[in-house]
Amino acid sequence: MRVVGETPLLEREAELAVAERALDAARSGEGSILLVEGPPGVGKTSVLAAVRELAGGFRVLRARGSELEREFLFGVVRQLFEPVLAGSSDAERDQLLVGAAALAESVLGSPGTRNGAGGDMFAALHGLYWFAVNLSEARPLLLLVDDAHWADPPSLRWLAYLGQRLEGLPVALAVAARPGEPGAEQASALEAVSGPLVEAVRLAPLTPEATAHLVEQTLEEVPEEPFVAACQRVSGGNPFLLGELLDELSREGVAPSAASGEIIERLTPARVSRVAVQRLRRLPPRCTALARAVAILGDGVELRTAAELTGLGGEDAAAAADELAAASLFEGSRPLRYLHPLLRAGVLDELAAGERAALHACAAQCSAPRAPHRSGSRCICCTSSRATSRTPREHCVRLPAPRLRAAPPSWRPPTCAGHCARARLRSSRRRCAWNSAWRSSTAARWSPRSTS
Ligand SMILES: Nc1ncnc2c1ncn2[C@@H]1O[C@H](COP(=O)(O)OP(=O)(O)OP(=O)(O)O)[C@@H](O)[C@H]1O
Ligand SMILES: [Mg+2]
Repeated sequence: MRVVGETPLLEREAELAVAERALDAARSGEGSILLVEGPPGVGKTSVLAAVRELAGGFRVLRARGSELEREFLFGVVRQLFEPVLAGSSDAERDQLLVGAAALAESVLGSPGTRNGAGGDMFAALHGLYWFAVNLSEARPLLLLVDDAHWADPPSLRWLAYLGQRLEGLPVALAVAARPGEPGAEQASALEAVSGPLVEAVRLAPLTPEATAHLVEQTLEEVPEEPFVAACQRVSGGNPFLLGELLDELSREGVAPSAASGEIIERLTPARVSRVAVQRLRRLPPRCTALARAVAILGDGVELRTAAELTGLGGEDAAAAADELAAASLFEGSRPLRYLHPLLRAGVLDELAAGERAALHACAAQCSAPRAPHRSGSRCICCTSSRATSRTPREHCVRLPAPRLRAAPPSWRPPTCAGHCARARLRSSRRRCAWNSAWRSSTAARWSPRSTS
């Protein structure tokens, strides 16, 4: 086990051995590229931090892609190199920008001399390459680029340009990216363009043994096996989700006993909710609709059923499901299923808050008592702070179609979703006891065929 900062890095020995090989290659002047890939929270940044610690004797420069800065041309390259120039004397600067490296001034020079992508792109790429070569003359150079899936396209282009010319240079490039994000293809393309110099590692989730270790370390007690199994089940062994879960359990003072397993199923760490919501915000609105529908209806729901609840057409729903899988929220298969139960809980948690607000607003608007469950009315809110498919039906408020149309967009489906909709959609499957009673007494009266 390796300790990065204060965190023990579990089950990454093989990946770090690959990283050591890549660093050795660069030390001996052969150049190397290390690609670290994996879904959100699996530990890519942690591996890059460990690589940095392994890189004794290297000059290490770091940069990180940001989704807010993707439009900032050469932003990642500037993050790498500007601190070097800022800390250099005039003489050092002249030395670094000597020869073809002078062309890098179009990107790295003072604002007056920069022309970024407005100038000759090839000249800029070439100049930056020679700048890196000059930098590596004094000692080997390690360039660490995290979150490359969010790097600006010109920077990714330069990384690929450099990758194709690393042979014979004491330069190592270590790049971390999430596959499935918009820029990830370009980051992964490094693997294709850089050929034999590339070592790619794809990080796997932690095993139950590592989970048991983390549980014991955080809760300071040897855990019982069912407790570990529950942690593993809800987090899928994802280190970020597991860490958040364990922090929450520790704050709640939960003992890692078999009897506490049930508590784990009910916890939704606040940061997990935030992360789930942030991931949804980056996706088209149809994804939020589908994610909410599946959170309400439960894992294992058919696409058709979830689509019906959201009001999305079949093609749109299928595209949304694929986008949610690419963003590591859903599994990539059918029927629909969250990648980890904790993510579903996070979406559900956020949904409940929205529904609460809608209930207050609805109560003010709706002078009439609860409308009957008639065709054309939709469930818009639940009073429960954690509405689930088991929320009692009485907590569900329905809004007749005319009022629903008058409601602000945020109240309307797909924000609204509830067990009544679930019951209607699944009535033929008789999932709830009350459902069949409702079907016989109310649904028949208000079904589209009987109302005219
Ligand atoms: N192998 C590991 N063993 C124990 N804890 C780990 C391991 N890898 C990561 N962690 C912990 O999990 C959390 C998430 O890790 P990290 O930030 O490296 O993930 P990431 O893949 O970079 O996530 P993102 O895709 O969001 O950038 C951190 O708190 C980190 O300390
Ligand atoms: Mg990271």
